[in-house]
Amino acid sequence: MNLADLNKVARAMVAPGKGILAADESSGTIKKRFDAIKVDSTEDNRRDYRELLFRAKDAMANHISGVILYDETIWQKAKDGTPLVKLIEQSGAIPGIKVDEGTKPLPGCPGELITAGLDGLPTRLPKYYEQGARFAKWRAVIDIGQGIPSYAAIHTNAHALARYAALCQAASIVPIVEPEVLMDGDHDIERCYEVTEFMLKETFQELYVQRVALEGMILKPNMAIAGKKCPKQAGVQEVAEKTVKLLKACVPAAVPGIAFLSGGQSDEDATAHLDAMNRIGGLPWHLTFSYGRALQAAPQKAWAGKAENVAAAQAAFAHRARMNGLASKGEWKADLEAKKAA
Ligand code: 13P
Repeated sequence: MNLADLNKVARAMVAPGKGILAADESSGTIKKRFDAIKVDSTEDNRRDYRELLFRAKDAMANHISGVILYDETIWQKAKDGTPLVKLIEQSGAIPGIKVDEGTKPLPGCPGELITAGLDGLPTRLPKYYEQGARFAKWRAVIDIGQGIPSYAAIHTNAHALARYAALCQAASIVPIVEPEVLMDGDHDIERCYEVTEFMLKETFQELYVQRVALEGMILKPNMAIAGKKCPKQAGVQEVAEKTVKLLKACVPAAVPGIAFLSGGQSDEDATAHLDAMNRIGGLPWHLTFSYGRALQAAPQKAWAGKAENVAAAQAAFAHRARMNGLASKGEWKADLEAKKAA
């Protein structure tokens, strides 16, 4: 492992004005997204859809630093035979790969999950590197509910995240460490704060114990935010202030950057929250986006599986990428959204 090289990639992933496109939906998840726009989830349709994103020149060159791919995509070729990885590289963005194998029930902990995929990871990583991946992603999922999360779920998931991160660095791949506390419940922002703090503290303890170099990783956390079903939703400023307070308390300054997941927030909320955090300023790490839904919901809707809609889908993607690019610098304004709508 060469830490200077890892650090260089990590810093490029969070370069000001840019962020990460999470296009790493598993076969099950992309099917759900395609069902919503009435498109069959065939290999060709998945290829066509992802190809249109990676060929969106303005968005990719100016606002996307890296793309997280799913295993199928990293081996796929565009319609004209160009490897999809090459399209990403040609745009100036860095290819990355989701290496976890999804979640499984955690024994002894009803309703809780552990992320699978460590077995075989040391042999898979060099193949991904050879294919062009310079960073990877592993998502741990922590749910908030009656009596959960348990310490067992927090600890085993933090341990697995650190195992994955150490293996990535040994293979010269920058790990995105993603401990996601879900926003699906009816809990308030205080409870989200408390659980996320616990999970982040445990994660950084495990990263330390397992000798992960913080300079060569990116953190992908949730924001401090109320559950979707909570009657008391926090405002933009409150989400921004609480998230920044939380991160300052838990994330060492040696980490080059923090790239948030959108987690089910509306497109505009995800942008407004990131923008408000960057307006607070004076932070030791770059704060940007690593959005899946908040970047792709609009282009998916515009595309709807039809070749004649490709340009409209690319325009929708370019708009969200630009809005989030501005938010990564604290320069977004709500009226820029209205202009697009008009
Ligand atoms: P969302 O932004 O849709 O939450 O997806 C990001 C991601 O990569 C989840 O693992």
